[in-house]
Amino acid sequence: MSALVIDNIGLLVTNDPELGDGPLGTVRDAALVIEGERVAAVERAGAAGDERIDADGRCVIPGFVDSHTHLVFAGDRAAEFAARMAGAPYEAAGIRVTTDATRAASTEDLARLAERRRAEAFAAGITELEIKSGYGLEVDTERRLCEVAARLTGEVTFLGAHAVPAEYEGRADAYVGLVCGDMLSACAPHCRWVDVFCERGAFDEDQSRTVLEAGRAAGLGLRVHGNQLGPGPGVRLAVELGAASVDHCTYLEDADIEALAGGETVATFLPATDFSTRQPYPDARRAIDAGAEVAIATNCNPGSSYTTSMSFCIALAVRDLRMTVDEALRAATLGGARALGRDDIGRLRPGGRADAVVLNAPSHEHLVYRPGVPLVSRTVARGEVRHTAG
Ligand code: NIG
Repeated sequence: MSALVIDNIGLLVTNDPELGDGPLGTVRDAALVIEGERVAAVERAGAAGDERIDADGRCVIPGFVDSHTHLVFAGDRAAEFAARMAGAPYEAAGIRVTTDATRAASTEDLARLAERRRAEAFAAGITELEIKSGYGLEVDTERRLCEVAARLTGEVTFLGAHAVPAEYEGRADAYVGLVCGDMLSACAPHCRWVDVFCERGAFDEDQSRTVLEAGRAAGLGLRVHGNQLGPGPGVRLAVELGAASVDHCTYLEDADIEALAGGETVATFLPATDFSTRQPYPDARRAIDAGAEVAIATNCNPGSSYTTSMSFCIALAVRDLRMTVDEALRAATLGGARALGRDDIGRLRPGGRADAVVLNAPSHEHLVYRPGVPLVSRTVARGEVRHTAG
């Protein structure tokens, strides 16, 4: 098999302490040898290979793992965002606006829009991502969203319980019945995960439990949107049911921190959402210090976080969630992998997937030190160059 070598790496972050220094397993003056989709070896600079990328002394990190996106949708909510910046509150009811536009779009239009966003994510250094449904809220459109998402990733999440659609206003239990019945049957074959928006104004604890248990019975892993708009049962429910991840975690109470510290569920923070909705930032420091496993993700969606920039999320995580730079980088790579229950991605070690990003910078600290500057020079996913920017 021919080898691709990323050579002359000034600083390689492996995320494997056995391969290098410190918790990030950093190696100086390194070469990354790739065969097919996999990392073959981490060597000294100057390694032999059939094809060569010259990192020119710059930093190489594992590809970002974005474990929370809503990438398949139609329509635009820029006016809602502008109104929010002028003082209007964030309303989860905006989901219905996107639902109207998404229902009206053809499957091929949805696919084209999602592919464009996927390309943007590669340019941002995202080598693996999860995609949720949730802007159909009726059987046929939810199924179409799952099918389109499955063209782009194996990490597809059924989120029929994203909001109660207008036609079920005041009949949330009946809608939960549809979600757990025909909608789940139509979507589950395309999905790996089930998710629910457990929040006041969306689905309460009992309804959320019903959705998650139905998803589990259909063979899906569990994820939860919890504690986004206020304190609530989402985090504790996720831990109790052994969900892979509970996402948002903006409002964490003592009992939530205790649950996260004592459980297996990853706390996934979505700082660009708190930025875009003018919410307070979560206390990630407290969760980390208590021993919780954490991730950060973009939550790319048209309402509360229309960004594919993981670098921006990392900068917010450091500046406003009080993570260290190393913690934030790990959360955006290995943390995301853990939130997806994956051990083949999120780090660079022999046998793992060859997902790497060459930064136009000497160290990963520049992701925070130079906020807003596009520092992704090259994205390699499954051993193939997916983005080049000089
Ligand atoms: O994760 N919280 C629920 N869902 C999305 C927001 C969706 C929207 O506003 O369109 C989120 O923030």
